[in-house]
Amino acid sequence: MLRIGVLVSGGGSNLQAIIDQIEEGNLKNVSINVVISNKKDAYALQRAEKYDIPTKVLLRKDFSSKEEYDLAMFDLINSFNVDIIVLAGCLFILPKIITENYKNKIINIHPSLIPSFCGDGFYGIKVHEEVIKRGVKITGATVHFVDEGTDTGPIILQKAVDVEDDDTPEVLQKRVMEEAEWIILPKAIEMIAQDKIAVREKKVLKK
Ligand code: GRF
Repeated sequence: MLRIGVLVSGGGSNLQAIIDQIEEGNLKNVSINVVISNKKDAYALQRAEKYDIPTKVLLRKDFSSKEEYDLAMFDLINSFNVDIIVLAGCLFILPKIITENYKNKIINIHPSLIPSFCGDGFYGIKVHEEVIKRGVKITGATVHFVDEGTDTGPIILQKAVDVEDDDTPEVLQKRVMEEAEWIILPKAIEMIAQDKIAVREKKVLKK
């Protein structure tokens, strides 16, 4: 059984996509052992509670320094004894203590085709605003392992999505989620659960 911890900050539709695939029996030998949020009103928490998945909220304001907060987050994740950490709409940057101790054990879903439209400042709706501004015709989503950089880790899966002339950032965001994110995030977890991939020199290869 692959034990996963899911880190969220918002709506949790990617968390829902993982739950749905587990419920439907498509994602076998995977259990979500905890959902952790850095926002107390994240709707993702309600989604988890509905399925009796343990939830935890860790707020930065309850700690006097970032170091203390980072350490508390590290301890909290450790306490659930998870095999991998899934960042599903998680809007806080993981500290070194976590990325180093969970090397090639953290995955993130990013709403563009990395290395386009990624890195510092490219998150959430901003990604889609920039995609439309630049006038690219194809965008998509990427699941990648997380290293100490921003969106720089080994790429596991990508899926392309068309950009239409009359797209607003919101319309495009919805299409990227429906046609790419909700498909490739559970798929990447399945590949890890079935031990189908390995990381070699910063690349993910099929075993
Ligand atoms: C998604 O677009 C994800 O790629 C990005 O933030 C959004 C989160 O959506 N990192 P949700 O919380 O999973 O609904």
